[in-house]
Amino acid sequence: MIRKSLQDGVQILRLDRPEKKNALTGAMYTELAEALETGNTDGEVRCHLICGQPDVFTAGNDIGDFLQYAGKVAISETPVVRFLRALVRNEKPLVASVDGIAIGVGTTLLMHCDMVFASRRAFIRSPFVDLGLVPEAGSSLLGPQLMGHARAFELLCLGNPMTADKAAQIGLVNEIVEEDVETAALSCARQIAAKPPEAMALSRKLLRGDTQAVSERVEEEIRIFAERLTAPETIAAFQTFMSKKKA
Ligand code: COA
Repeated sequence: MIRKSLQDGVQILRLDRPEKKNALTGAMYTELAEALETGNTDGEVRCHLICGQPDVFTAGNDIGDFLQYAGKVAISETPVVRFLRALVRNEKPLVASVDGIAIGVGTTLLMHCDMVFASRRAFIRSPFVDLGLVPEAGSSLLGPQLMGHARAFELLCLGNPMTADKAAQIGLVNEIVEEDVETAALSCARQIAAKPPEAMALSRKLLRGDTQAVSERVEEEIRIFAERLTAPETIAAFQTFMSKKKA
């Protein structure tokens, strides 16, 4: 469900569950986390590229999994949390190719990327509040830093969809690609991979600065998120989604 390959120093991580709009399951998070974690010490990996399928980056966390987690497991031990921590601790440049829907964590993971390429049909949305949840992946800190409070509120609290144009205007997306977004993203990832790796690592670290605050915010979000999973308004929202599916 995550197809991995290595090309010219670029580890390609392809989300591959198109029949469910690439909704991320525990198994997929585990594979992604492992790829990032091992990439930190693997000299062959100079850069990661995360991509999806035509017209689907990801519909976010699998909502069925949320229902299973609610009140039953310690969320801090779940694969999704391992993935969020791996994103913060990732030491190699991360490039994203976003074609079509990028919902929930599909939006917030972009805030951890170094370069984001989007197609015109990119549809970026974070319906956390509609689901009774709170923003995750450090986005409650990184979002306002990147785009200012008002725009972050619109994206992360109001849940308004964002076009590729708007995402580029606010600095979430580097480039909108009219033709083949994945080829453009891969070409950039190759360019990164070809550069002197130590200078790249040091420069990236300087740009990212101290990630301690992001780490702490991720943990705080996780704690609140876990509490919200058992809130009646949250369970009702999940059940509405699941029952629409059955209908
Ligand atoms: N979790 C679990 N299953 C999901 C999913 C998710 N996040 N997103 C999509 N799916 C499943 C659908 O249930 C459906 O499954 P089925 O064929 O067994 O019924 C399949 O993927 C196709 O989705 P569908 O809703 O029919 O496609 P669509 O093109 O009409 O709509 C979306 C696509 C992404 C807009 C819509 O599926 C959606 O809103 N998904 C939920 C997104 C979300 O809230 N994510 C969580 C963020 S925290």
